[in-house]
Amino acid sequence: MNKSLRKPLVVGNWKMNKTPHECVELLDELIPMVSEVDRADIVVCVPFVDLCSAVEKTRGTNIRVGAQNVHSAPKGSFTGEISAEMLLEIGATSVIVGHSERRTYFGETDETVNLRARAALDAGLQTIICVGETLTDRDAGITEEVVGLQTKIALQNVSAEQMANVVIAYEPVWAIGTGRNASTAQAQEVCAQIRSIIGKIYGDFIADRTHILYGGSMNAANCADLLNEADIDGGLIGGASLKPVDFTVIVKAANNN
Ligand code: 13P
Repeated sequence: MNKSLRKPLVVGNWKMNKTPHECVELLDELIPMVSEVDRADIVVCVPFVDLCSAVEKTRGTNIRVGAQNVHSAPKGSFTGEISAEMLLEIGATSVIVGHSERRTYFGETDETVNLRARAALDAGLQTIICVGETLTDRDAGITEEVVGLQTKIALQNVSAEQMANVVIAYEPVWAIGTGRNASTAQAQEVCAQIRSIIGKIYGDFIADRTHILYGGSMNAANCADLLNEADIDGGLIGGASLKPVDFTVIVKAANNN
């Protein structure tokens, strides 16, 4: 597999952190720190209420803005939800779908993840689909099966053309927010398995061009080794994305990859 076919991508997932005012403050710090980065793509996925401020603040910079969820319907009686068209109109380019916190706390299933991903892709959004096993899965030796199934169901009825906007983020649930990242070998192994599944569905041309990220306690200290792996094309960063200095280290490590 030829890694040079894929431009490194670093995505910050701010989760439910930062008010609109704090969002602008953080971006004010971050923007000059990463302004020289030209070989990696940078996206910050902020809370819905921060999107407008973030889009406005990052206009003309090398940082793009994304959301953390999207509904599958174009409009209608879905109280509390946000459509892909709404995200597009305010200038978001990207969206995270199927984060394990959505699956665990908000009842998302592989099927709803697929529906949401397809709505985002139909609208032309870069769609970051999260997959990952629990510790129980890993201990039971079924990581490949679990992640494989999540990936296959998420991609059902996603066309080959739409794959250009698909990013898969491998986030082992046991590594999220725990300070315990997957080893480089563990992360590489699963990311390679995901690429192989994509190859079986869409062929090698598309598999070689699909971005696969690692997420789960990636930080300034461990990012270089993880990003060096053959099938890890970038990171989905939680806690460290809230610290401009640390996030910049990760972005620059990706930029040098
Ligand atoms: P942490 O980087 O805080 O472990 O979070 C990872 C994550 O969930 C990103 O989506």
